[in-house]
Amino acid sequence: MTDTNRPLDVVILAAGQGTRMKSSLPKVLHPVAGRPMVAWAVKAARELGARNVVVVTGHGAEAVEAALAGSGVVFARQEQQLGTGHAFLAGMDALEDHREADVLVLYGDTPLLRTETLRDLLADHRERSGAFTVLTGVLPDATGYGRIIRDAQGNVERIVEQKDATPEERAVGEFNSGVYLMDARANELAHRITNENASGEYYLTDLLGLYRAEGAEAHAFRLSDPDEVMGANDRTGLAEAENIIRARITQAHMRAGVTIHMPETVYIEDTVVLGRDVTLEPGVILRGDTRVADGAGIGAYSVVTDSVLGEGVIVKPHSVLEGAQVGARSDVGPFARLRPGTVLGEAVHIGNFVETKNAQLAQGVKAGHLAYLGDVSIGDETNVGAGTIIANFDGVNKHPSRIGAGVFIGSNSTIVAPRVIGDAAFIAGGSTVHDDVPEGALAVARGKQRNLEGWSHRYWSGLREKVQTKLPWLAGWLDRQG
Ligand code: UD1
Ligand code: CA
Repeated sequence: MTDTNRPLDVVILAAGQGTRMKSSLPKVLHPVAGRPMVAWAVKAARELGARNVVVVTGHGAEAVEAALAGSGVVFARQEQQLGTGHAFLAGMDALEDHREADVLVLYGDTPLLRTETLRDLLADHRERSGAFTVLTGVLPDATGYGRIIRDAQGNVERIVEQKDATPEERAVGEFNSGVYLMDARANELAHRITNENASGEYYLTDLLGLYRAEGAEAHAFRLSDPDEVMGANDRTGLAEAENIIRARITQAHMRAGVTIHMPETVYIEDTVVLGRDVTLEPGVILRGDTRVADGAGIGAYSVVTDSVLGEGVIVKPHSVLEGAQVGARSDVGPFARLRPGTVLGEAVHIGNFVETKNAQLAQGVKAGHLAYLGDVSIGDETNVGAGTIIANFDGVNKHPSRIGAGVFIGSNSTIVAPRVIGDAAFIAGGSTVHDDVPEGALAVARGKQRNLEGWSHRYWSGLREKVQTKLPWLAGWLDRQG
C-alpha cells in the first residue's frame, strides 16, 4: 500500500454558517494573524505539496470565493448544508480526476493546525495501512466532538457523534478532529453514506466504518497538542487563536536571532522576514511583505507594512511605514510617516513629524523635523529644513519635483510643484518657490524685512492704563523709555 509518491488532493470544508461570530462576514473569512482563517488551510495544503485543493463553499460562498480568487483553488458549491459527508462529496465532484490520489480533509476554521503536524500525519498514514487515518486528540472532557471507539484489541472501530453516543461512549476522551487522510477509494465509499442518525445529516465519519467493511484497516494519529484543532467559533476563540499563532511566530524569530522586548506585545505576520540581531521594542507591528535586514532596530509602537529596511536601520518609536524602502544605516522617526513609493538611500535621516510619499531621497539627505515631501526626488546630502512643504497638488493633479544634490532648503519653505532645484542651490527660509532655481543660486522668495523704529512704544503707550494693570514688566519698560 505504501507509496510516498501518490498525489495528494485536499478538500477544505467551509460551507457552514458560524452564527456565533455575530458577523456579516462569513466565519472562515475572519482574519487570524493577517490571513482569513480559510486561507490558513489553503496555505497548509500548498505547503504539503497538494495537487488539487478544493474549497467547499455554501454560507457566504461569493465572499469566500472572492477572497480566495487567484489562489489556484477549485471551488465546490454546497447549496444546502446536509452534513460533512455531503460536503465532502460536493468537493470530490468538483475534481475532474481523483484516481490514485490520497485525499486529505481539512476544515476552514482551524487555523492553528500546523503543516508539520499534517506532514507527520501523512507520513504515518503512508507507513501504515494507507487506507484511512483520522487525526485525533485526547481531552479530559471531549463533549461536543465525535468520539473514537476502539475494539478490545485497541483498533479504531468507528466514530460516534455526541448526539448518537451512549453514556459510556461519551466518557471517551479521544475525539475526532475532523481531519482525515484517505486513499483513492474515499469518493466511491462516500456515496454509500446515509443520513440515518440522530441529526439526519450525512456524516463523513461513517467513512471509517465503510473502509472497515471493505476489509481495510483504519488508524488514528494522535495530536500531541489538541489545541491545534481548536476551531475559532466566536470572537474570543478568534483572539485566542491569533494569540497562539502570534506567539509561535515571535518565538521562531527569537530562536533565529531576533531580540524582542516584551514579545507578548509584538505582532508579526508570518509573511515577514527578519535578519539576525534585529531588535524589536514593545508594541511593534510588522505586516505583509516586510523585510528587515541584519542589525536593524524598530522602536516601540511602530507599524511597518510591506516595507524593506536595510542593514542597521533605526526606526524610532511611533513611526508608521507603508510600502517604503529604507537604505542601510538610515534613521527614521520618532513619529515619522513613510508612505508608499518612499525610497530612502543609505544614511538618510528622517526626524519627527516628517511625511514622505512617492519620494526618492538619495544618500545622506536630512529632513529632521516637520516636513511633507511628496512626489519628489532629492539628491545626495541635501538638507531639508524644518517646516518644508512640497506643494505637489494643485487641487486636481499631482506634480513631480526634482531637487538636486547638496541643496540647502531653509526652514518653512514651500516648493510649489512641478519644480526643479539645481545642485548646491540655497533656498532662503520662509520662501514660497514658484520658479525653478538654477544650480548654485540662492533663491529668496519672501517679503523683504522692514524694521519700523519705535513702533512698539507708540503702540503700548496708547494702551498705557491696561498695560499698567495687566502687563507690569511692559509698564516698567514704557516708563524707562520716558
Ligand atoms: C464534525 C465531526 C465530529 C468532529 C468535529 C470536529 C461529523 C459528522 N462530525 O462535527 O466527529 O469531532 O467535526 O470539529 O463530521 N461543513 C460543511 N457542510 C456541511 C456541514 C459542515 O461545509 O454540510 C463544514 C463546516 O463549515 C465546518 C466543518 O464542515 O468547517 C465541520 O462542521 P461542524 O458542523 O462544525 O462539525 P460537526 O458535525 O459538529
Ligand atoms: Ca464543529
